[in-house]
Amino acid sequence: METEILDGYEMEAVEKAAAIMKSGGIVAFPTETVYGLGAIATDAAAVKKIFEAKGRPGDNPLIVHIANTDMMKDLIDGDIPLDANLLCEEFWPGPLSMILPRSRKVPDAVTAGLNTVAIRMPSNTVALELIKAAGPIAAPSANSSGRPSPTTAKHVFNDLNGQIPLILDGGSCRVGLESTVLDLTCTPPRVLRPGGVTPEQIAEVIGECEVDGSVLRPLGEGETARSPGMKYRHYAPGGNVTIVKGSRKRMASKVCTLYDAAAKNGKKCAILAASGNRSLYGDRKVRMLGNNIQEQSRELFAALREMDDMGAEEIFCEGTEAKELGLAYMNRLGRAASFHVVDADEREGKRQ
Ligand code: TXA
Ligand code: MG
Repeated sequence: METEILDGYEMEAVEKAAAIMKSGGIVAFPTETVYGLGAIATDAAAVKKIFEAKGRPGDNPLIVHIANTDMMKDLIDGDIPLDANLLCEEFWPGPLSMILPRSRKVPDAVTAGLNTVAIRMPSNTVALELIKAAGPIAAPSANSSGRPSPTTAKHVFNDLNGQIPLILDGGSCRVGLESTVLDLTCTPPRVLRPGGVTPEQIAEVIGECEVDGSVLRPLGEGETARSPGMKYRHYAPGGNVTIVKGSRKRMASKVCTLYDAAAKNGKKCAILAASGNRSLYGDRKVRMLGNNIQEQSRELFAALREMDDMGAEEIFCEGTEAKELGLAYMNRLGRAASFHVVDADEREGKRQ
């Protein structure tokens, strides 16, 4: 199969994508977070094609994307709960997925047999036009399973060329990290995956919100993931990733020490750093991510993909404070690093 890339801002391209979906096919499309790989949510056979193309385990449920709140009625069981109403007024369209009790109209293939469904309204024109033309769309990120999520049409092409008929190109994604996944079926509501809408913002609207313990650490033995996706190895490039945290100068100096030791052993090394810290690394190989957490989040997945392209064997990444958007950033980076973190402020042999 030839994979075509069309400009998503052309109405004809969106119509073509909708036609493919209506005849049971799958299509990649841009959202403000990452690119999605979509099928019509009520078409179980088409949804199964998504799992095949990505190589995704069947027990990992998909998010259903909608273009207006009317589309929710057929997807959830009962009325829209008060908290969900408040949150969608505040954050939709935008990077927030809400988990609610599901209606029987949503096939098991979408929810992986769970009795809940995750729903979100993306804030990307191309995505919204496509959903209006095709109806609610079930879509995971459009990467091969385990790879970093795609933030450009080219990333999707590199992973799925030959497996899908069409990619709608909408340029680079504005947020760059996947949506916040919020479980509204428990009290208090709980963030299972942090994203562009922060726990702090959610708590401001509905009063209370917890963050699942597994967000910044690996799952313990025998522990089950509340969000099935969190149990899989993710975002990991081929090389070893080490996060170095600490105050700016100590962090940079630790990165340099680790880098030089690995380079001396013949390893191909690279550093992922804030642009403002470039000068701290001399002539070492640095991929700059930007000047603030928004820019760093937008660039992270592209940078991790570049690490594979250049064959980096040891990758040293600056850590950042795990709050607000930094929580989502450190969650993704932590998983890319299998939570291998070095604290540059901790002196060797230091006692409490
Ligand atoms: O920003 C995003 O969310 C992107 C764009 C395309 O919308 N989508 C995305 O989908 O990241 P995916 O499939 O890569 O991640 C969905 C996450 C997974 O961790 C999955 O386990 C979780 O949401 N999830 C989906 N439905 C769920 C449910 N009913 N209960 C618990 N977790 C759920
Ligand atoms: Mg994904």
